[in-house]
This record gives sequence, C-alpha cells and structure tokens, in this order.
Amino acid sequence: MLTSRIFFLLAIKNVASQSGVDLDAPMLIGGGIRGPGAMLRFGCSQIVIERLDPLVNPGMSPSTHMHQIVGSDAFNSSMPYADIANLSSCTSCHFTQDLSNYWTANLYFKARNNTYKRIPQTANQFNDGDEGGITVYYTSPAPNATTAFKPGFRMLTGDAMRRTPTNLGKNKQQCYRCYPEPNWGGSPYPPCMDPKWDTEHLPQQPCPGGIRSNIIFPQCWDGKNLDSPNHQDHVAHPVGGPVAFPIVNGTCPTSHPVRVPQVMFEVMWDTSGFNDKEEWPEDGTQPLVLSTGDGTGYGQHGDYVFGWEGDSLQRSMDNHCYLRNCTQLTEQAPRIKNLCKVPDTVNEDVDGWMSELPGGGESG
Ligand SMILES: *[C@@H]1O[C@H](CO)[C@@H](O)[C@H](O)[C@H]1NC(C)=O
Ligand SMILES: *[C@@H]1O[C@H](CO)[C@@H](O)[C@H](O)[C@H]1NC(C)=O
Ligand SMILES: *[C@@H]1O[C@H](CO)[C@@H](O)[C@H](O)[C@H]1NC(C)=O
Ligand SMILES: *[C@@H]1O[C@H](CO)[C@@H](O)[C@H](O)[C@H]1NC(C)=O
Ligand SMILES: *[C@@H]1O[C@H](CO)[C@@H](O)[C@H](O)[C@H]1NC(C)=O
Ligand SMILES: *[C@@H]1O[C@H](CO)[C@@H](O)[C@H](O)[C@H]1NC(C)=O
Repeated sequence: MLTSRIFFLLAIKNVASQSGVDLDAPMLIGGGIRGPGAMLRFGCSQIVIERLDPLVNPGMSPSTHMHQIVGSDAFNSSMPYADIANLSSCTSCHFTQDLSNYWTANLYFKARNNTYKRIPQTANQFNDGDEGGITVYYTSPAPNATTAFKPGFRMLTGDAMRRTPTNLGKNKQQCYRCYPEPNWGGSPYPPCMDPKWDTEHLPQQPCPGGIRSNIIFPQCWDGKNLDSPNHQDHVAHPVGGPVAFPIVNGTCPTSHPVRVPQVMFEVMWDTSGFNDKEEWPEDGTQPLVLSTGDGTGYGQHGDYVFGWEGDSLQRSMDNHCYLRNCTQLTEQAPRIKNLCKVPDTVNEDVDGWMSELPGGGESG
C-alpha cells in the first residue's frame, strides 16, 4: 500500500506541477500542502438511493433510472434555483459548509439467470467510515484564479445515451479503473490515465480490487446562466478540448470565459461478490450494467447542484486548501455526517434480486 502510494505520487507529479497543485504531500490525513493552487478531496456518504433526478426529470417520481445521491438533505424531486444552503439542515459531506448535492447512476450485476443485483459501494481510499457515496474533488490552479459557482448553479457531465468511445485517450472525462489488486493496488496513475486499467467502457474481466469510477466536469462557465436546457451548454472545456485531471490552467473559450473550480467525482464499487465467472453470461461478455440499462459503460454521467454556504468554496480555493486540510472549512466526523439522510420517497426495492432494472433500464 505504501509502495503503491509512492508510485502514485511520483506518477502524478508531472501532471500536478503543470496544474499548480502539489501532490507530493501525504494523502492520508489531509496534511501538508503548499502548491500554488488548491485541491479539496473529501468523502460524502450516501444520503439516499432512489429513482429521483431533479436535473433531468424535475418533479418526476420515480425518475427514469436509479441514482445514488450524496450531500445535503435538501435533495428533492425538484430543486429550486435558490440558495440550497438555506434549505438544508445537514450534509453527508466531510465539510459542514458543503450543502451541495452530487449523484450518479448505480451499477448492477446481471446474473446468468437474467436477474439483477445492485453492486454495493464502499468507502474510498483515505475515507474510512464513509458509507459508500462519492469522493468529491475541487481543484484550482492558484488563488483568485477560479470563480466559485453561484447559488442555484447546477450542471451535468457525460452522456447517458452514449454507447461508443469518445477516443479522448488520456483526456477522457469518465472512466472505470479495474483494480488488479486489493487496497487500491496495482495502478500508479492519476485518474483515467492508466493505459491498462482505466477504460471508458466497463471492465471486461473480474477486478480483484473492485472498480473505481471517475467523472470529471468541465472547468469553464459562461458567467451568466445557472443552468441550460441540457444542463451542459452553460459550461465548457478549455480551448483545445477536454484535459486530464488535474490540469486546471487551460484557457477558457470566449463563449465561456469564467474559470470555475474543476469538479471530479470518484465512486468505489465493491464487485468482490460478483467475480465468479460461472455466474457471468455464457458468451463470455462482462455482466455489469449501469442503472440506465447501459452495458457498455460509455454512458456514465454525473450530476451536481451547487450548495456551498456563502463564500466558503471561494475562500477554500483561494487559500491553498489541500485534500481535507482547510482552515476555511469545518470538518465533521463520519459518524456525524452519516446521520444525515433523506427519506426514500419513491419506496422501491433497491437491494434485492430483481427481474428487471428499476424503470426497465431502457432510458437515458
Ligand atoms: C494544514 O496546513 C497548515 C498550513 O500549511 C499546516 O500548518 C498544518 O500543519 C496542516 N495540517 C495538517 C494536519 O497537516
Ligand atoms: C419535495 O418536493 C415535494 C413535491 O414538490 C414537496 O411536496 C415537498 O415538500 C418537498 N420536500 C422538501 C423537503 O422540500
Ligand atoms: C441564505 O443565508 C444567508 C446566510 O446564511 C443569507 O445571507 C441569505 O440572505 C439567505 N438567502 C435567502 C434567499 O434566504
Ligand atoms: C439468480 O442467480 C443469482 C446468483 O446466483 C441467485 O442468487 C438468484 O437466487 C437467482 N435467481 C433466480 C430467480 O433463480
Ligand atoms: C485575492 O483576492 C483578494 C480579494 O480581492 C485579495 O485580498 C488577495 O490579495 C488576492 N490574492 C492574490 C494571491 O492575488
Ligand atoms: C499551464 O502551466 C504549465 C506549467 O506552469 C505551463 O507550461 C502551461 O503553459 C500552462 N498552460 C496554459 C494554457 O496556461
């Protein structure tokens, strides 16, 4: 584990020095910073797993496909363009100031007998005590170099309907890491940059150390709109196109001139109970499917509703916050944040063996 961490840090160093973030510091206890920039990395536990999607299917209950949701207890079937922080009483995220919501599609195992089971999630590396959920990163190249999102802001990245590769290579904006060894071992690369173990499609073979999803959001904003009809057009990639994590010093296009912190999600899927090839399809194909019905994995996507209190995100980006070390913010222990929950208002089975995916799995 220690060895793999050192390799990780060596490999990431070149990338990091280009981005203004010093990743040479220990990853474990949020200690020691001091690159020119900032990079928050913190865990958010599950607040609910249910079929709601206030971005794509506002007001619809149930929505088309299942999600795992983290963050503030203001999450609902539709969410106003208001200061979400004011509507919240708790958050399942590590910092009490982060009352945002984050969500992704879930992953299912389709057994040989054509029944489905949800793949459990586990705490990510360095996030002991979390209940599944999402690890969130916010990265900025230097103090005052990014503008924090505004109250009401939301965005979506990825394309739930995609079933083909983007051919972005190491600049791919979503991927699955098939860990060849337990405890996050066997891959020394930054997210989505391992040419062997990071793929835009679902892994084709059992992954002894589980699967980690990464989803990277665009880093430029039009400076005006809190949202857009497809929840994507008000944000954009830098000139030259999508870039690898954590390169955040690109030039924003004139259409989207405002540089915002780069948001990235990380999700750990515990596939250990599903590695028996006797249960895999007889034709040798892989058995995993996203809650959208996507068995390729190319349709992985992420959703974000901003909800940081006041200027807390701006202050943490401008003051060298690094991992969980941030004097601008207030930490809460997992046993506290894990108490923050949203009642499941859809009330359908999310954990049994199911004859079909919730919603039928035919939806984007
Ligand atoms: C966090 O950063 C500050 C400022 O650089 C430093 O004094 C402190 O020791 C760091 N905290 C930890 C836990 O490393
Ligand atoms: C969630 O939305 C429903 C339907 O719009 C509404 O009745 C309910 O009060 C909302 N809940 C919260 C906590 O805002
Ligand atoms: C939200 O709360 C902040 C302080 O916590 C306050 O300044 C602001 O006016 C509130 N906004 C609304 C719309 O109530
Ligand atoms: C289908 O296969 C799974 C995995 O072996 C098993 O747990 C489940 O009971 C089976 N369901 C049916 C209806 O046979
Ligand atoms: C960032 O902006 C603040 C507020 O305008 C200013 O006080 C501070 O000196 C700036 N920091 C840097 C490094 O430019
Ligand atoms: C990003 O930073 C690196 C290293 O500081 C520099 O070489 C590169 O030109 C920068 N890129 C842009 C687009 O500013």
